[in-house]
Amino acid sequence: MRSTPRPGAVSSTVRRGLVAAAVLALGSTAAVATATSASAAVSCKVNYTASEWQGGMSANLTIQNLGDALSNWTLTFTFPNSSQKVSQGWSANWSQSGSNVTATALDWNKSLSTGGSTSIGFNGSWSGSNPAPTDFKINGVSCNGTPQSPSPSPSASPSKSPSPSPSASPSASPSASPSASPSASPSPSPSPSTSPPPPGTHVDNPYDGATGYVNPDWSASAKSEPGGSRVANISTAVWLDRIAAISSGSAGNNSMGLRDHLDEAVKQDAANGSAPLTIQVVIYDLPNRDCSALASNGELKIAQNGLARYKSEYIDVIAGIMADPKYSNLRIVTVIEPDSLPNLITNVNAFQACQEAQSSGAYVQGVQYALNKLHAISNVYTYVDAAHHAWLGWDSNFQPMVNLFYQVASGTTAGVKSIDGFIVNTANFSATVEPYFNINTTVNGQSVRQSKWVDWNWYVDEQSFAVGLRNALVAKGFPNTIGMLIDTSRNGWGGAARPTKASTSTDVNTFVNESRVDRRIHAGNWCNQSGAGMGERPKANPAAGLDAYVWIKPPGESDGSSTAINNDEGKGFDRMCDPTYTGNNLNGNNMSGALPNAPVSGHWFSAQFQQLMQNAYPPLS
Ligand code: GLC
Repeated sequence: MRSTPRPGAVSSTVRRGLVAAAVLALGSTAAVATATSASAAVSCKVNYTASEWQGGMSANLTIQNLGDALSNWTLTFTFPNSSQKVSQGWSANWSQSGSNVTATALDWNKSLSTGGSTSIGFNGSWSGSNPAPTDFKINGVSCNGTPQSPSPSPSASPSKSPSPSPSASPSASPSASPSASPSASPSPSPSPSTSPPPPGTHVDNPYDGATGYVNPDWSASAKSEPGGSRVANISTAVWLDRIAAISSGSAGNNSMGLRDHLDEAVKQDAANGSAPLTIQVVIYDLPNRDCSALASNGELKIAQNGLARYKSEYIDVIAGIMADPKYSNLRIVTVIEPDSLPNLITNVNAFQACQEAQSSGAYVQGVQYALNKLHAISNVYTYVDAAHHAWLGWDSNFQPMVNLFYQVASGTTAGVKSIDGFIVNTANFSATVEPYFNINTTVNGQSVRQSKWVDWNWYVDEQSFAVGLRNALVAKGFPNTIGMLIDTSRNGWGGAARPTKASTSTDVNTFVNESRVDRRIHAGNWCNQSGAGMGERPKANPAAGLDAYVWIKPPGESDGSSTAINNDEGKGFDRMCDPTYTGNNLNGNNMSGALPNAPVSGHWFSAQFQQLMQNAYPPLS
């Protein structure tokens, strides 16, 4: 886990350039309509929405089939302005010739039943103006919503039919400073309820008024450490990091299977008076998992039927167990696929495994499948992973991520309602709040954004990022009830190295370096960070828009081995976990900051656990 971020030490402008330049893996042009059965009546509707910023855009298209079932489809349209270019697309093979754009279906979305729909999209560039295309055709037939016979050979020059959808004009939302980002006011954080709603009711915030499940496996590891009993009763998540983890007696630290945990949760719930109990389960086994790093590579591969296995041997089994009526009074929170969708935004160009995850649709489809199955169970809550501020906090990544989340949710049975919220900082080390400066702080007339540490990011900590992201998601169309979680298990940064006041330096770099409580060498470092401490204890409603601070990464479980270690879990050796590694462009060519002598990811790492307790902030009593 926790491959990270991504932008190196370059400005956001350059970064955007990188995104655009590295692409153009567009398939060869072929504006040829795919044959449908001769008698099929094609009727379709295309909904086009685009977010744009100066010179760039990210567009989502939903194709709706209003006619006979299609066994394959090709979408064509024309950009009204000759400067408009597709640079990188998803969920279809994209090509462009002049202003004519063609998107052909992929295997997984080529058949469209009557009434069915699929979402595809692209990132692109423009200059001058960026009008929305209007002449959408499926298999050569204009999408005007009325059934028609397919034209045998689609005309090469698309007709200028009127815009088929009311929301065809791109919404201009350049992502500016957080204060300029769309402000949907978060629902006020509710005060803990005095009388809990009937058990099993799907509530807005599953943490509100609830106690947290204590994982006996993790608790036993913690208790085996000197001083560990101080934290051993804190609620941490159960990670289903492989198919075998669903059943009892799997390898590693975890002896309990999912049923064992839920049975135990029912017991803890009963022992706990009237408060409901919340148990957190991490869904983490997508094929090509951890596609931009090696330390948490998983057991399933896309090329080896991984998506089908993910659905039938993993998600179906988990959903089947969670749906058992004997668990219906529990509040089961699922954290869905850390790092996966963020990897599709930033890491497709540089990592072949991510490229495959995108072009095959496996990540999007896998997450949608998980959402469909899990959201259907009324006492299960879904929180989708949204990386962290030092991964997505730049313009080039932020709005495309929001768009992809929206596209993924829109493609599920319940649409945007299938997601209860999003989680940031899973297994990462970014501070919840930087107490001594914020994004608007200036030093001697210079913004902290110009410092090497902040590096033009729009956020300096996780809480401002979580709130900013939530606002943008609500503005995009998610309900105002979505709530954010922050994984605070290892982002405390206490101990002797923690600053106690803002620096008085007038040099912006010195100021930020002396003031920041996040003591990492670089914010892109993610593996077993030296000097880290346990963070805020789990807590419901810590701030407006946030459902809870949570401990998802169980403190003491390694992020990855510091040297290559043979294992049967599919885990690789990532040099970002090697303390002697001098880095790469993703962490500004800095040292990795990782602790030495680390075991394989997920395995118990006593020295790290001790340091995390030592540097806890707030300190442990
Ligand atoms: C890492 C590991 C995984 C483990 C999790 C929690 O992501 O790859 O096996 O369950 O961390 O420690």
